[in-house]
Amino acid sequence: MISVTSIQEVGDYLLEARFKGKPIGLVPTMGYLHDGHLSLVKECRKYCDIVVMSIFVNPIQFDNKDDLNNYPVDIENDKRLAESAGVDLLFIPNRQTMYHNTKTFVDIEDLDSHLCGSKRPGHFKGVLTVVAKLFNIVLPDVAVFGQKDIQQAVIITKMIDDLNFPIKMVIAPTVREKTGLAMSSRNKHLSLDEKERAVCIYNSMNEAALLIKQGEKKWTIIEEVMRNVIENSFPEKIDYINAVDFYDLKPIEVLKGKFIIAIAVYFGAVRLIDNMIVDINGEDVICEI
Ligand code: PAJ
Repeated sequence: MISVTSIQEVGDYLLEARFKGKPIGLVPTMGYLHDGHLSLVKECRKYCDIVVMSIFVNPIQFDNKDDLNNYPVDIENDKRLAESAGVDLLFIPNRQTMYHNTKTFVDIEDLDSHLCGSKRPGHFKGVLTVVAKLFNIVLPDVAVFGQKDIQQAVIITKMIDDLNFPIKMVIAPTVREKTGLAMSSRNKHLSLDEKERAVCIYNSMNEAALLIKQGEKKWTIIEEVMRNVIENSFPEKIDYINAVDFYDLKPIEVLKGKFIIAIAVYFGAVRLIDNMIVDINGEDVICEI
């Protein structure tokens, strides 16, 4: 694995692969890697000869200074993990490299008005801008993102389509702890007790999946069950529990077609998000947790 910090070095490294027509994949991250990030590398490898991972804690997607300042960093460990997962090129730019007097941003309409978009103003503008820049720096054939951040994945899919990026978008499943808690760099800030209680998020989705498979179509009923399961574990605050259409991310009341059940809950000061994708097709019901 080669680790570089400049845009020039990325171009130089990829020149030969591009000339030989080797497919290049990109896995963007903010580092403090865990098995969820590493699963994206494996997924990317299925499609690509060259796997590029970026690590950049993108300041413009943080709506809260403390969150940015407390974001965990461990570059040396990240390098070891990335190499063991099979990353070919690790791109670790600094803020000056990514943003020097930047005046141009990428934004999206409507799709950011629910779920995390409504709770974190400017967040998705920051995400789309940095992802568009990374796309232009790496020029990948494939980009892999996690289902864990499903609104992000749907919004990036829309940007790829709207702005004609010639990139195949892959959404990889959420990797979980044995308990069911979704892996996240932010889990580091949970106490042992909070970590145990936070499993209620996963349990609430399983309850919902069961009801949906039994034929329940009313969102208010499912929501109440999920809310009860989560409240029984005494979270600091439930930010939202929503069912939204998979494509336009608008809230739905009657469950049908492809939709997302998305959750954001605070345990202590840590905001955890999780989701399941549901596809109802007549009698067939698929719930991807
Ligand atoms: P970060 O939170 O580091 O996540 C990087 C990628 O890993 C995202 O695609 C995310 O969905 C995925 N991921 C995180 N936890 C996962 C899990 N438990 N299972 C599977 N995939 C998981 O998301 C970002 O960074 C940033 O917003 C970024 C896209 C890099 C732009 O700055």
